Amino acid sequence: MLVHTIEEVRKQVKEWKKQGLTVGLVPTMGALHAGHKSLIDKSIAKCDKTVVSVFVNPIQFCPGEDLDKYPRTLEADEKLCTDSGVDIVFAPSPKEMYGEGTIMSNDFLTYVIPPFFYTNKLCGKSRVGHFDGVCTVVNKLFNIVQPDFAFFGEKDRQQLIILKKMVHDLNIPVEIIPCPIVREESGLALSSRNKYLSENGKKEALVLSKILNNIKTCYNKGIKDVKALTETAYSFINDNHSLEYLEFRDKDNLEEKEIADGNTIVFIALRVENVRLIDNIEL
Ligand code: PAJ
Repeated sequence: MLVHTIEEVRKQVKEWKKQGLTVGLVPTMGALHAGHKSLIDKSIAKCDKTVVSVFVNPIQFCPGEDLDKYPRTLEADEKLCTDSGVDIVFAPSPKEMYGEGTIMSNDFLTYVIPPFFYTNKLCGKSRVGHFDGVCTVVNKLFNIVQPDFAFFGEKDRQQLIILKKMVHDLNIPVEIIPCPIVREESGLALSSRNKYLSENGKKEALVLSKILNNIKTCYNKGIKDVKALTETAYSFINDNHSLEYLEFRDKDNLEEKEIADGNTIVFIALRVENVRLIDNIEL
């Protein structure tokens, strides 16, 4: 069922709760692909009822980012959800979420601001304010849907870690369920932004997973020094790629590692054809 208003979602969820049913929420920005579907399938398997939200959240886009050209494919998204057995597709308008005329800055709108230590690095460094927008909208979705479980992909690992921290710090009664990265057979992590790449760009984009897999192989062979592991990446990079970061950080609190261990995530962000792509791997 496609629903556009907060009131309708609330009414339906209230009915479910009365019947003692558990509710899973899968927050998305639409343009759904097999990565999103894996979260949806997990929710359907675990929960009595599943709500998928489809909302391109304006307050998590920075100036100059792709808010206007972000792919919007609601009809296909609804079909994928219905075919998968989703109970509600919640697709609100920006007006429904933020009110008409709201100036969407934290001078005028109540924001949920995650800790600076978590946001001043990796994607947060170039996307200032991005995670404030993510935490604010996810908090709103939690309040609207009041799910028991919420499903997030490890593809956006920094986002997942920050949302877990938000739930912990604010005692939000929702259990976050992490879901593994879904990749094409080639190794490319699925992303709505892959649509911006040409055929050749998609080949060039394999450099992310190649670098990460190579680092993991070297780590498994016994190289633990982060500088040495980082150097293994450079032979993969050419003029078609512009590397934004390659960092080794703690899986729970994002602290930087000098020596890699079993609690380490390797994070990479790189531009191909000016499309910003991210990936990560757990050592
Ligand atoms: P979006 O980019 O649409 O992603 C929605 C969810 O799908 C996220 O939890 C993301 O990590 C997961 N996902 C995307 N690609 C994946 C892949 N290849 N494998 C596994 N999971 C994948 O992330 C957002 O939207 C937004 O920031 C949101 C949380 C909805 C807040 O607006």
